[in-house]
Amino acid sequence: MIGVLVSGFGSNLQALIDAGLPIAAVGSNRKDAYALDRARAAGIPTATFALDCHATRDERDLVMATWLEEHDTELVVLAGYMHLLTRPFLARFPGRIVNVHPSLLPAFPGAHPIEDALAAGVETTGVTVHLVDEGVDTGPILIQEPVPVEPRETLEERLHAVEHRLLPETVAGLT
Ligand code: GRF
Repeated sequence: MIGVLVSGFGSNLQALIDAGLPIAAVGSNRKDAYALDRARAAGIPTATFALDCHATRDERDLVMATWLEEHDTELVVLAGYMHLLTRPFLARFPGRIVNVHPSLLPAFPGAHPIEDALAAGVETTGVTVHLVDEGVDTGPILIQEPVPVEPRETLEERLHAVEHRLLPETVAGLT
């Protein structure tokens, strides 16, 4: 079973749901994430793990990991989850946490990969699906697909379309 972590709009979560993948639970660091509405609409259990409800980030992550395990999570998918995971969380799911990122890593890690690629003036960017380690968008790469920057007006839309295909395909191969 898959546990998904989200922070925002949840279009990648929706792609996982639409692909019919076995999603056991969806957790968020933000209670107002629209992604939680998508999960509820699909009948998937949800929970919010806000940092300000816990003494430390490690403690929050341990509570979140326990909740995912209680829902039979074997594989964790970060679908627009915008917090770094701490070492205690990583240790609970060794080699079993996947992230999607809209750049050709290791180029343009971090929170603004599309803007950063445009600012750098590259001709090609893309999408990476990778295993998660302690770094910011580091960890072994599972699959990448290049996307031409031009026409830049539609770059974001084209990157997201690739994410929505590549993430479910890769996750399906891991389950
Ligand atoms: C995606 O581009 C994802 O790769 C990045 O944040 C965005 C989240 O979008 N980490 P959504 O919440 O899945 O719609």
